[in-house]
Amino acid sequence: MNLEIFKKYNKPGPRYTSYPPATFFQGGFTADAYIVQIERSNQDEPQNLSFYVHIPFCPRLCHFCGCNTGVSQKEEVIRRYVDAIIKEIKTVSQYIDPSRKVSQIHWGGGTPNSIDLSYVEEIMAAFSERYEFLDDAEVAMECHPAYLDFADIDKLANAGFNRISLGVQDFDSKILKLVNRAPSKHPIDELVRYMHEKGFRGINLDLIYGLPGQTPESFVKNVEQAIEVSPDRLATFSYAHVPWVKAAQKILEKHGLPGPDEKLRMFQNGHNLLTEAGYVAIGMDHYAKADDDLSIALKNKTLHRNFQGYATRKTTGQVYGFGSSSISQLWGSYVQNIKTYPEYIEVIEKQGLAPDKAYILKQDEQITREVITEIMCNGEMDFENVGSRFKTSADQIKEVVKFSAEKLQEFIDDNLVAIKGNKVEVFREGFFIVRNIAMTFDPLLKETEGMYSKTI
Ligand SMILES: C[S@@+](CC[C@H](N)C(=O)[O-])C[C@H]1O[C@@H](n2cnc3c(N)ncnc32)[C@H](O)[C@@H]1O
Ligand code: SF4
Repeated sequence: MNLEIFKKYNKPGPRYTSYPPATFFQGGFTADAYIVQIERSNQDEPQNLSFYVHIPFCPRLCHFCGCNTGVSQKEEVIRRYVDAIIKEIKTVSQYIDPSRKVSQIHWGGGTPNSIDLSYVEEIMAAFSERYEFLDDAEVAMECHPAYLDFADIDKLANAGFNRISLGVQDFDSKILKLVNRAPSKHPIDELVRYMHEKGFRGINLDLIYGLPGQTPESFVKNVEQAIEVSPDRLATFSYAHVPWVKAAQKILEKHGLPGPDEKLRMFQNGHNLLTEAGYVAIGMDHYAKADDDLSIALKNKTLHRNFQGYATRKTTGQVYGFGSSSISQLWGSYVQNIKTYPEYIEVIEKQGLAPDKAYILKQDEQITREVITEIMCNGEMDFENVGSRFKTSADQIKEVVKFSAEKLQEFIDDNLVAIKGNKVEVFREGFFIVRNIAMTFDPLLKETEGMYSKTI
């Protein structure tokens, strides 16, 4: 990786986990309007159903956290929250065509494994009573290893889970202490081995670089330790420091944060170690073993992604979000629930649905989303193919995304991108700055400039 090139393009820009980005969502969206969108989604592709369940509780708050969560609550509050989610599942199911099948359920948060797992079983039962699952449906939970016992892994397997992502962040307990994070209850390698024995696949570890106390050398050790654990997947996230949004992050400043050059070296060292160990780089910061579904999908150019992360085109459905702050990602719209859980519970108890913000996509925006997804996930975008998906011509797609070869010239000169006929190809080095490339296909970009963080 050429560091100079990387630095040149390390500018702020959207991460494109949605298109248009969440900064475009508008408030005041009603339950009736959400019902219209759910009913409409039955006619749209993909037919599969993906569900996202958000659990906004953590026993202890890590000072680096950028997620939508709060410190764990009394049992009666958690009970009310779980009841609200079950009510929301019942309400939404009234409008979903029952012949549609579930291809994916993802639990995130917060820390979903910190609540009593009997609640998780209840919510899973609410889904399975109402829907049929595809045989190869992915059922995943983001788990914090401080609250994970071997018996919990058994319970999750019995409840239908087949994927787990473990938030390791850093193996060094001194670093975890600096950021107020509880260390793992059991050695990570034993947990991962046990999950493999129990039949879990696509087991992932999350690492963060850029935390106080970390150095390029310490991060090398971290990644080496992660490779020894041999997860199927691994993510190395750049710590996003946004103290104006997340006040607790301010505390980290007194310990001193690694600078951009150090962070870049951490990323580069991590990337080199992982790829030398046989991991395939997926997008900007994800890695997967060569025989993992994600690597196979990348090879076949059928990789996809949503707010929950990467998936294959086959397993990705339209996403219906449950719980506070969760986002439904339908073909024609994005709908986000009320962000705070007390308000979410109250509104669900009254009316069964609790949307707040939304964005309805015009057809041109659906086209741009498809173009950007192909660039970001598969590094190859064929105007002809996208055109045929939308029953129109390659030229029409170019017109929608305001394509011009000049906009890509700098990337071409730096050997990051090539244009071949109607195809745009992103080279491996280009993936490190892929959102900058995606930005050249975004006609709405001008409106939100200055609202995003840098790549690293
Ligand atoms: C919901 S948490 C995962 C589950 C569990 N709460 C945990 O921490 O292990 C999602 C992931 O977001 C990442 N994350 C959280 N705050 C971040 C930040 N400020 N910058 C970059 N990544 C962050 C962490 O790697 C974390 O594992
Ligand atoms: S990083 Fe995970 S455990 Fe820590 S506060 Fe955020 S959501 Fe909770």
